[in-house]
Amino acid sequence: MKFFVDTADVAAIKELNDLGMVDGVTTNPSLILKSGRDILEVTREICDMVGGPVSAEVVATEAKDMIAEGLKLAKIASNIAIKVPLTWDGLTACKAFASEGHKVNVTLCFSAAQAILAAKAGASFISPFIGRLDDINLDGLELIEDIRTIYDNYDFKTEILAASIRSVNHITDCAKIGADVITAPPAVIKAMANHVLTDKGLDQFLKDWAKTGQKIV
Ligand code: G3P
Repeated sequence: MKFFVDTADVAAIKELNDLGMVDGVTTNPSLILKSGRDILEVTREICDMVGGPVSAEVVATEAKDMIAEGLKLAKIASNIAIKVPLTWDGLTACKAFASEGHKVNVTLCFSAAQAILAAKAGASFISPFIGRLDDINLDGLELIEDIRTIYDNYDFKTEILAASIRSVNHITDCAKIGADVITAPPAVIKAMANHVLTDKGLDQFLKDWAKTGQKIV
């Protein structure tokens, strides 16, 4: 399973990247807003740091304007994946980008039917949003399962990039289902290291060690 980091926070990406935890990065307009940075500048900085795909999202809503924006974003670096929304115009732009050899991440996917269209349009990645489905009492993980089954049935090469990840359980459940990639906020990835029994065990070991009066170095 590949780990993408869902943020435009360069310091947070660097911390995880230095540990070898980052296979790619996803950004979106909300994350660019949160970073307070210029999209071209911050995306270039991320691309320089990370070897894997870095998703940069278009904001136009008509295909021809999406194509103009996507081609500008693609010029930032060779590892840009152009991110387009799952609309008919987005699929049109996806096909145009894919035909020219660009990686495309089709985002805002909320149904298996949408995921089929993205694969047919040549998407490198499909981004189903788990958390936002859970928010409206639908089952985000069931969607990942359905897409996995369909893509395997027809040997579609589009990678399932599980997005809108809100918890550690989302990540482990996606791993069990066989999502190709998860993209999660840095805090959720770091929380994977936490376990109450680890904390409790370590506390006991340190107390016992203090009683030995020994030092290792
Ligand atoms: O990758 C998409 C992600 O940023 C959306 O997450 O938590 O805003 O639904 P969220």
